Amino acid sequence: MAMTGVLRPGHAQIRVLNLEESIKFYRDVMGLIETGRDDQGRVYFKCWDEQDHSSYIIREAPQAGVDFIGFRVLDEATLESLESDLNAYGVETRRLPAGDLLETGERVRFTLPSGHEFELFATKTKVGNGMPLTNPGPWCADAEKGISPIRFDHALLYGPNIADVKKIFVDVLGFFMVERVIAEDNTTEVGIWLSCSHKVHDIAFVEHPEPGKLHHCSFLMESWERVLRGGDIMSMNKVEVDIGPTRHGITRGCTIYAWDPSGNRFETFMGGYHPYPDYECLTWTMDNFGQGLDYPQRKLHESFLTIVS
Ligand SMILES: [Fe+2]
Repeated sequence: MAMTGVLRPGHAQIRVLNLEESIKFYRDVMGLIETGRDDQGRVYFKCWDEQDHSSYIIREAPQAGVDFIGFRVLDEATLESLESDLNAYGVETRRLPAGDLLETGERVRFTLPSGHEFELFATKTKVGNGMPLTNPGPWCADAEKGISPIRFDHALLYGPNIADVKKIFVDVLGFFMVERVIAEDNTTEVGIWLSCSHKVHDIAFVEHPEPGKLHHCSFLMESWERVLRGGDIMSMNKVEVDIGPTRHGITRGCTIYAWDPSGNRFETFMGGYHPYPDYECLTWTMDNFGQGLDYPQRKLHESFLTIVS
């Protein structure tokens, strides 16, 4: 499959209540690598196997949550073309200057009908994964610090108007639907899982009355054993766990959900499958949503359905 257009999740900027405590958490417990700080007080991290300068950025604020999610597109020409497609579709965009986010080029920012700030960018400095491009090893020393996920994989966002959100992602940005949850009327989509790649999801949305809410940012682990080891590290550090370890029916992901010290949920997961753009979307019905959420236990976890930041 030729990868063009929107490539992948590039970064998330997350609000935390206490910057120092959060730096310790993301660096020492999560095992992310700090790559910079800027004059706006933001701290930049990347996962060990990511090549780009940063994928997870935190800033101190009175309320937890997500400031914006950014996706990397193929190149600057693609950025311009998607910007004009968005405008033609009726989505108002604005450009943020290169360097506003460290080591990152111009970003095209817009507000989704769900109330989330979303952006596209084409340029971010590649800092590598700590291994040479010629004759690299399978992992580097940074892969053994804390939970040490491979990459920032996807986000699940809660907000209103997901039918309109879906149209923007599918009709304008070139994503395809991988899975969905439908309401009791057997028609209305209340949850959508979208891919712009070969991944089971690059972003997902659940219908929710409050706009702009974060359900979780997800970090990819190399194996189920690494997910379990991540759970050990969470317990050793008294991290508050929401669900897991378990497997979703939806996406088949094997997962643990937990909260950072500010109450932002995160996921460490592995697995899933590899859909192509001609894939036929899978549907989950509300009467079986317990299995979609937690396949072994078939349980609707109240906290998972209601707590967002
Ligand atoms: Fe997830």
